[in-house]
Amino acid sequence: TRIAVIGGGRNCEHDVSLASAAGVADGLEKAGYEAVRLTIDPAGEWRDPDDKPTGLARAVRVLRSCAAVFPVLHGPHGEDGTLAALCDLAGVPCVGSPLGAGALAMDKWVTKLVADAVGVGTAPGRLLTRGDACDFRGPVVVKPVTAGSSHGVTLVRDAAALEPALDAAFAHDDRVLVEDVVTGREIDLAVLGRPDGSRVVAPALEIVVPGGGIFDHAAKYAGEPDFVVPAPVDRTDRERLERAAVTMYDALGCAGVARVDFFLTERGPVLIEVNTMPGFTARSQVPRMFAASGMSFDALLDLLVRDALP
Ligand code: DAL
Ligand code: MG
Repeated sequence: TRIAVIGGGRNCEHDVSLASAAGVADGLEKAGYEAVRLTIDPAGEWRDPDDKPTGLARAVRVLRSCAAVFPVLHGPHGEDGTLAALCDLAGVPCVGSPLGAGALAMDKWVTKLVADAVGVGTAPGRLLTRGDACDFRGPVVVKPVTAGSSHGVTLVRDAAALEPALDAAFAHDDRVLVEDVVTGREIDLAVLGRPDGSRVVAPALEIVVPGGGIFDHAAKYAGEPDFVVPAPVDRTDRERLERAAVTMYDALGCAGVARVDFFLTERGPVLIEVNTMPGFTARSQVPRMFAASGMSFDALLDLLVRDALP
């Protein structure tokens, strides 16, 4: 069975996606599929498995020659529902979340509004567009509304750091989120939705950043973050985290696997964000979380593909 695996993408998470896509393609081959490796280069050009530019029309023909598409793209122009929409229009089954969920989850402001509506806690935050005034009222996290892998995210502790932080975030997006700092343990949940409506939640994962800093881009990709699975949480907290994760998954209309990230605070879980195409390298969170429940990487990929097929 041929599965198109798409990696890369025209965004700041291009390289992370290439690593995830290579992992997924290798895993699918181990599970017995034929992986057709397509790439979207940083300029947005589609490339065939030999890295030759193909143009969109030919890329779509390749997609339609496959039983399903596994878009392993992170960030805008991929994880935001665009790839799911392309597959939908082309009539090819697509692994993971549909257009709506991808678009909603990519937008951290709208995600916050949805979370508030369904009773999942979030950090108090303000939305800024270019030219909006922003006074410093205390430590905040400044982030682009749509980006990933912590690109353009700054923890601002004093007034002087606010302006550069806003510039860094506006370099990625026309909309910026300024959120109060939340103190808590960072805990990720992975939710796998099955076509029969059942929801599998993998053991929670705690991120322990050496030195106690925030899990920023450097900690994610240059450092050696310590992932603890299962996260040492008591039953009450575990149930609250799992309930909040599944509530968000369903409120946004996710499919396949999504990773829902939280701070666990004294007042319960506070949502950070939902990733509809989370990091999928062997050292990423989601494969490690499912491994802790006894499901291998290849078995997880096989399940995702089978659930996507008609
Ligand atoms: N956005 C990165 C890839 C993640 O969520 O793992
Ligand atoms: Mg993300």
